[in-house]
Amino acid sequence: MTDVEKEPVDLAPLQGILERAGRVRDTDLIPLLQEIQEVYGYLPSAVLAQLSQRTGIPTSRMFGVVTFYSQFHLKPHGRHTIRSCRGTACHVRGGRVVSEAIARHLGIGEGETTADNLFTFETVACLGTCFLAPAMMVGSDYYGLLTPEKIKAILGRYSPK
Ligand code: FES
Repeated sequence: MTDVEKEPVDLAPLQGILERAGRVRDTDLIPLLQEIQEVYGYLPSAVLAQLSQRTGIPTSRMFGVVTFYSQFHLKPHGRHTIRSCRGTACHVRGGRVVSEAIARHLGIGEGETTADNLFTFETVACLGTCFLAPAMMVGSDYYGLLTPEKIKAILGRYSPK
Protein backbone atom coordinates (compact mmCIF):
# COMPACT_ATOMS: atom_id res chain seq x y z
CA MET A 1 0.00 0.00 0.00
CA THR A 2 1.34 3.44 -0.93
CA ASP A 3 1.34 6.47 1.39
CA VAL A 4 -1.53 8.03 -0.53
CA GLU A 5 -3.63 4.98 0.20
CA LYS A 6 -3.40 5.22 3.96
CA GLU A 7 -6.61 7.23 3.54
CA PRO A 8 -9.59 4.87 3.25
CA VAL A 9 -10.94 4.56 -0.28
CA ASP A 10 -14.69 4.86 -0.84
CA LEU A 11 -15.80 1.64 -2.53
CA ALA A 12 -19.33 2.89 -3.27
CA PRO A 13 -18.49 4.17 -6.79
CA LEU A 14 -16.98 0.76 -7.62
CA GLN A 15 -20.15 -0.86 -6.40
CA GLY A 16 -22.17 1.28 -8.82
CA ILE A 17 -19.87 0.48 -11.73
CA LEU A 18 -20.10 -3.26 -11.05
CA GLU A 19 -23.86 -3.17 -10.76
CA ARG A 20 -24.10 -1.47 -14.15
CA ALA A 21 -21.56 -3.84 -15.70
CA GLY A 22 -23.40 -7.01 -14.69
CA ARG A 23 -21.43 -10.19 -15.22
CA VAL A 24 -17.76 -9.36 -15.81
CA ARG A 25 -15.57 -11.56 -17.98
CA ASP A 26 -11.83 -11.33 -18.44
CA THR A 27 -12.33 -9.57 -21.80
CA ASP A 28 -14.26 -6.79 -20.02
CA LEU A 29 -11.30 -5.97 -17.82
CA ILE A 30 -9.71 -3.11 -19.81
CA PRO A 31 -12.90 -1.05 -20.35
CA LEU A 32 -13.83 -1.72 -16.73
CA LEU A 33 -10.47 -0.47 -15.48
CA GLN A 34 -10.82 2.60 -17.73
CA GLU A 35 -14.20 3.37 -16.20
CA ILE A 36 -12.90 2.89 -12.67
CA GLN A 37 -9.93 5.15 -13.35
CA GLU A 38 -12.26 7.76 -14.82
CA VAL A 39 -14.14 7.85 -11.51
CA TYR A 40 -11.25 7.57 -9.03
CA GLY A 41 -8.61 9.38 -11.09
CA TYR A 42 -6.33 6.35 -10.67
CA LEU A 43 -6.62 2.69 -9.66
CA PRO A 44 -6.35 2.40 -5.87
CA SER A 45 -5.07 -1.00 -4.73
CA ALA A 46 -8.07 -1.40 -2.37
CA VAL A 47 -10.38 -0.98 -5.36
CA LEU A 48 -8.46 -3.54 -7.42
CA ALA A 49 -8.57 -6.00 -4.51
CA GLN A 50 -12.34 -5.54 -4.22
CA LEU A 51 -12.73 -5.82 -7.98
CA SER A 52 -10.84 -9.10 -7.92
CA GLN A 53 -13.00 -10.42 -5.11
CA ARG A 54 -16.19 -9.49 -6.92
CA THR A 55 -15.25 -10.73 -10.39
CA GLY A 56 -12.93 -13.64 -9.64
CA ILE A 57 -10.26 -12.10 -11.91
CA PRO A 58 -6.94 -12.49 -10.04
CA THR A 59 -5.19 -9.27 -8.93
CA SER A 60 -2.04 -10.56 -10.63
CA ARG A 61 -3.91 -10.41 -13.96
CA MET A 62 -5.07 -6.87 -13.17
CA PHE A 63 -1.60 -5.66 -12.25
CA GLY A 64 -0.30 -7.27 -15.45
CA VAL A 65 -2.73 -5.18 -17.51
CA VAL A 66 -2.28 -2.00 -15.48
CA THR A 67 1.49 -2.04 -15.68
CA PHE A 68 1.49 -2.93 -19.40
CA TYR A 69 -0.67 -0.01 -20.55
CA SER A 70 0.67 3.46 -19.81
CA GLN A 71 -2.89 4.86 -19.68
CA PHE A 72 -3.39 3.25 -16.26
CA HIS A 73 -2.09 4.75 -13.02
CA LEU A 74 -1.66 3.12 -9.64
CA LYS A 75 -1.07 6.45 -7.93
CA PRO A 76 -3.15 9.66 -8.08
CA HIS A 77 -2.59 11.31 -11.42
CA GLY A 78 -3.04 14.93 -12.43
CA ARG A 79 -5.64 16.12 -14.93
CA HIS A 80 -2.80 17.04 -17.32
CA THR A 81 0.29 14.90 -17.80
CA ILE A 82 3.43 16.80 -18.74
CA ARG A 83 5.95 14.69 -20.65
CA SER A 84 9.27 16.45 -20.94
CA CYS A 85 11.73 14.85 -23.32
CA ARG A 86 15.09 13.66 -21.99
CA GLY A 87 16.18 12.12 -25.32
CA THR A 88 19.53 12.91 -26.87
CA ALA A 89 18.37 15.57 -29.35
CA CYS A 90 16.48 17.40 -26.63
CA HIS A 91 19.25 16.92 -24.08
CA VAL A 92 21.90 18.58 -26.27
CA ARG A 93 19.57 21.52 -26.92
CA GLY A 94 18.82 22.28 -23.29
CA GLY A 95 16.15 19.74 -22.37
CA ARG A 96 17.54 19.31 -18.89
CA VAL A 97 17.14 22.97 -17.94
CA VAL A 98 13.62 22.92 -19.40
CA SER A 99 12.74 19.94 -17.20
CA GLU A 100 14.27 21.70 -14.21
CA ALA A 101 12.16 24.79 -14.98
CA ILE A 102 8.99 22.66 -15.10
CA ALA A 103 9.81 21.00 -11.78
CA ARG A 104 10.64 24.37 -10.20
CA HIS A 105 7.49 26.01 -11.53
CA LEU A 106 5.25 23.21 -10.24
CA GLY A 107 7.19 22.57 -7.04
CA ILE A 108 7.28 18.81 -7.67
CA GLY A 109 9.80 16.26 -8.90
CA GLU A 110 9.66 13.80 -11.75
CA GLY A 111 6.88 11.24 -11.34
CA GLU A 112 4.97 13.45 -8.91
CA THR A 113 1.58 15.14 -9.04
CA THR A 114 0.76 18.65 -7.83
CA ALA A 115 -1.31 18.89 -4.65
CA ASP A 116 -4.26 20.29 -6.62
CA ASN A 117 -4.09 17.24 -8.94
CA LEU A 118 -3.76 19.53 -11.96
CA PHE A 119 -0.41 18.27 -13.28
CA THR A 120 1.65 15.10 -13.21
CA PHE A 121 5.24 15.56 -14.35
CA GLU A 122 7.03 12.80 -16.27
CA THR A 123 10.07 12.59 -18.52
CA VAL A 124 10.22 10.36 -21.59
CA ALA A 125 12.98 9.05 -23.84
CA CYS A 126 11.77 10.66 -27.10
CA LEU A 127 8.51 12.26 -28.22
CA GLY A 128 9.26 11.70 -31.91
CA THR A 129 9.54 15.44 -32.59
CA CYS A 130 13.32 15.79 -32.35
CA PHE A 131 13.29 18.57 -34.97
CA LEU A 132 11.50 20.66 -32.33
CA ALA A 133 14.01 19.90 -29.56
CA PRO A 134 13.79 20.55 -26.74
CA ALA A 135 10.21 19.37 -26.68
CA MET A 136 7.45 18.42 -24.27
CA MET A 137 3.82 17.40 -24.32
CA VAL A 138 1.04 18.58 -22.05
CA GLY A 139 -1.73 16.04 -22.45
CA SER A 140 -1.94 15.59 -26.23
CA ASP A 141 -0.49 19.05 -27.05
CA TYR A 142 3.08 19.31 -28.36
CA TYR A 143 5.43 22.18 -27.53
CA GLY A 144 8.87 22.61 -29.04
CA LEU A 145 11.90 24.88 -29.22
CA LEU A 146 11.41 25.34 -25.50
CA THR A 147 13.34 27.53 -23.14
CA PRO A 148 12.89 27.73 -19.36
CA GLU A 149 11.35 31.19 -19.85
CA LYS A 150 8.45 29.75 -21.89
CA ILE A 151 7.31 27.24 -19.27
CA LYS A 152 5.28 29.51 -17.02
CA ALA A 153 3.13 30.87 -19.89
CA ILE A 154 2.57 27.42 -21.43
CA LEU A 155 1.51 25.78 -18.19
CA GLY A 156 -0.64 28.81 -17.36
CA ARG A 157 -2.90 27.84 -20.27
CA TYR A 158 -3.94 24.72 -18.35
CA SER A 159 -4.57 26.36 -15.01
CA PRO A 160 -8.16 27.20 -14.08
CA LYS A 161 -8.87 30.91 -14.55
S1 FES B 1 14.86 13.37 -28.42
FE1 FES B 1 13.35 14.75 -27.73
S2 FES B 1 11.76 14.55 -29.17
FE2 FES B 1 13.23 13.11 -29.79
